[in-house]
Amino acid sequence: MSDEQHTNDTGEQDQHDSLMREKEEPRDGSSPIPIFILFLFAALCFWGGVYLIQFGGHFHKDAYTLDFDPNAEVAVVQVSLYDRGAKVFKAQCVACHQATGLGVPGVYPPLAGSEWVTGHQESLARILINGLNGPIEVAGKKFNGNMPAFGPSGLNLKPQEIAGVLTYIRQEWDNGASEVTEATVNGYMDQYGSRGTPWTAEEVVVDLGEEPVAEAPAAAEEAPAEAAPAEAAAH
Ligand code: HEC
Repeated sequence: MSDEQHTNDTGEQDQHDSLMREKEEPRDGSSPIPIFILFLFAALCFWGGVYLIQFGGHFHKDAYTLDFDPNAEVAVVQVSLYDRGAKVFKAQCVACHQATGLGVPGVYPPLAGSEWVTGHQESLARILINGLNGPIEVAGKKFNGNMPAFGPSGLNLKPQEIAGVLTYIRQEWDNGASEVTEATVNGYMDQYGSRGTPWTAEEVVVDLGEEPVAEAPAAAEEAPAEAAPAEAAAH
């Protein structure tokens, strides 16, 4: 009997031993990330952000040039009406009026040396906003075609773009006329934007308002006004 019990005991012990050797059964699911790792990660992200703001040079392309000052004021590039207009002209007008502004004889009238271009801003704006058709004489030559509208009823350029292209054609090719401001075009847009029909050459010059005063092309770059009397006194 005791012998039997003995064998039984060792059997149980063996069984326990083998159970103890077993690893824990793998369980389903995922264990949560320790919270301090989350905090560490958040802190690292924050530090990285602060670092980039301080030393990132605003991701400027010149950041590695020697005289780069990351904290210098970023210059806002102001595109002049003329430069904006040059782009609009290339995109919208060259096909007909040509880069030389000379047009195509008998088909497309010239803008260079055209009295319509350098004349009253209102007739010029009317032509651009609503288009033009029927007979017209430009710089002594006769034309009779269709000029598309660039206002809301046509190609729908923004007032700023129209102001730009008008300024450009008035000042390019030695045309030497005043610029046409965006505010001026906004005014004409309010008056003529809803008109759906193109103008004729006779219509475009009647009932014009007072011409807005705008700077002549050279005035802006000329020496400051005080310089003139000083110079005069010296003579
Ligand atoms: C599809 C061709 C075409 C395009 C594009 C075009 N025009 Fe014209 N333009 C004409 C024609 C044709 C006339 C003459 C209309 C007529 O005979 O009544 C004209 C007339 C004019 C006139 C008055 C006459 C003169 O020569 O001074 C101006 C100013 C003018 N266009 C400016 C522009 C500007 C600025 C653009 C671009 C935003 C432009 N045109 C785009 C064909 C075009």
